[in-house]
Parts: sequence; C-alpha cells; structure tokens
Amino acid sequence: MSPIRKPDICQPTGTAELPMLDVYMPMMKTAAIVSAARTGLFEALASGPLETDVLAQRIGADPNGARTLADFLVALGYLSRSGSTYANTDSTQRWFTSAGKIDYTPGALWTHEAWAMMGDLSSAVVAGTPQRSLWDTMRDKPHLGPLFSRYMQAFAQDLGPDLIAHVPVADHYTRLLDLGGSHGLHSIRFCRRYQHLNAVIVDMPSALTDTAHTAAQAGLSDRISLHPANLLALDWIQPCDIVLYLSVGHNQQETDNRRVLAEIARSLRPGGLLVIHDYLAEEPLNAFHAAFRLTLLYETGTRTYSHEEYLGWLNEAGFSSVSRIDLNPLEKGSLLLARR
Ligand SMILES: C[S@@+](CC[C@H](N)C(=O)[O-])C[C@H]1O[C@@H](n2cnc3c(N)ncnc32)[C@H](O)[C@@H]1O
Repeated sequence: MSPIRKPDICQPTGTAELPMLDVYMPMMKTAAIVSAARTGLFEALASGPLETDVLAQRIGADPNGARTLADFLVALGYLSRSGSTYANTDSTQRWFTSAGKIDYTPGALWTHEAWAMMGDLSSAVVAGTPQRSLWDTMRDKPHLGPLFSRYMQAFAQDLGPDLIAHVPVADHYTRLLDLGGSHGLHSIRFCRRYQHLNAVIVDMPSALTDTAHTAAQAGLSDRISLHPANLLALDWIQPCDIVLYLSVGHNQQETDNRRVLAEIARSLRPGGLLVIHDYLAEEPLNAFHAAFRLTLLYETGTRTYSHEEYLGWLNEAGFSSVSRIDLNPLEKGSLLLARR
C-alpha cells in the first residue's frame, strides 16, 4: 500500500502542524529568492544549465554557498537539478531573467530593501501610521527612488498591453497627463501607439531620476516632458485630454484623492478621459489584498479603496460615466475609465 501523502507542512497556511514553520519557511524562501537576485544566480542560468563550480564562479560565490542556495531553490521549484548541474525552471526563466517575458528581478532587489523596513512593521501597527513615510525615506536614501521605479517598471511592462487594449484614445486627443508616472513606460507606450499625443509626467524628483533617459532612448524626448513635484501641490493643472492615475490612488489619503480627482475633472477638456488603475478593496479581503494594505500602512499610512469609494469621489468631481474593467488575473487590479 502506498503511503498517503501528508500536506506539505512547509507551506504557510496559518494552520501548520509545526507552527514555527509558518514563520521560518516564508522568511527563508524570500531570503533565498532575494539572494539569487542579488548574486545574479537566475540570470547566470538564463543561457543554459551550469555545473555547480561554473555557476559559483559566474556569480562570484563560494561553491558550497552556491550549492546550498541552489539546492533550496530546487526544493522550492525555482531551479531543477541533474547531478551537480542546475537549471532555471520555465517559470524562473520567464519571470526572473532578461530572457523571459518580464524580468521581476528589480522586484526582488526592492524586496531586499523592503525586507529590512518590514522588520519594523510592528511600530506602524502600534502607531497606526508609519514612523516615516517611504517618500521621506527615499529623500534620505537616494538609491531607493530609482530602485523602486525599476520595480514599478516591471509591473508597468505587465500592465501596458491591458491599457492599450482597454483605453480608447480619440483622434483629437493631443495632451496626456501621467500623474505619478515614475519610470515613464506608460506615457512612452501611449505616445508610441498614438502619434498625435504629447505627455507630461508628474512625480516626485526621486522617482524621475532615469525617466528622461528612458524617454530619450525611446526617441520621445520632444514629446514627453517631466514635471518633478508633489502632485498634491496641484501645480500641474493644464488643459489635457487624457489623464493617467495609475496605481497612485492607494498612495494618497482619501481627502487628497478627492482634491486630485476634482482638479483632474477641471483640467480635462470636453470629451476627455480619466484612467485609474488600482487594486479595489472588496470584503472579505483576500490574502494578497490584506498583505498589500499592511504594506501601505507601513510605507505610506494610506490604504486601498473600494469601487464604491472611487465612484463617490468621481461623481463628486463631476464625472458622470464610469466603467470598470477587472484585469486577468485579478491580482493585476482593475481599471476605471471616467468621463465628465
Ligand atoms: C505604485 S507607483 C506607480 C507608478 C506608475 N504610475 C505605474 O503605474 O507603474 C506610485 C507612483 O506615484 C508616485 N507618487 C505617490 N504619491 C505622490 C505624490 N504625492 N506626488 C507625486 N508623486 C507621487 C510615486 O512616486 C510613484 O512613482
């Protein structure tokens, strides 16, 4: 009789048979993936399998160190092993190397920074607000801004095709305003697709360090300009046809979102379009959404908002028609398209 396979007690479930594994295993899993990103282990395997000593040499690691890390990544399903040779699994190749569809390595590198910050999560829980907002921390540590923008860039590569598929851009639109536009990839994508558009990207200076270079590389320096500012200062107001407010609402307090949306309504020319992307809160919160809210509590002291909350603010701002598009998979969030 074959033994009955027990559930994997190393999976974090909240009901682990050995409760410390619920604490220990997610920590080690994250540490291993982040170490692979920092040493370049996944990228070293992107062009094919490597024997342990060669792999170790490529990433500048001790052979035993490389083997110990790689063996855990095999157990996690990130690598496969044949004898002493390691290879990326299909999923690792696709999501964590430059040979894949989208390289989320910047996300793992950002996690290295977030990881140290999250050690202090309990202080935000006790206070109900961050000790110091992420934006202030970025001012003190200048390497964080570009790192965060590169992480957002990976998300933007994923979201970009959905935006182009779902956002109708009329022939008479000429001016696009990208609030919190950071890396600039969304403005670049729209300007490439629609030759009649010019874009202005508004974001904090810390988020715009690489953006002019990215726009220049895309050959769009003459059509994309930058406006480094706190968008809550509302000094970006100018007549425009399409406004992007993508993954920015959850970084603001409710009153600030209401002020910003009211200004957007005033800035839009007749027939103009506001595009919001966000992770809309729905009760009961699923684990991903609840985790994201906890991150926001720590980083910005803000939260995610529901569809109804957005609808209320949009109606108050004078938008009469709002349509919602849920993206697939749901973790990608939703789009709200609003017209006055
Ligand atoms: C989650 S990222 C989204 C970036 C980009 N819109 C995208 O979808 O990939 C949020 C962006 O909003 C910017 N942001 C948040 N609050 C801001 C504020 N008060 N003023 C200017 N930019 C802000 C951040 O700097 C960051 O670049």
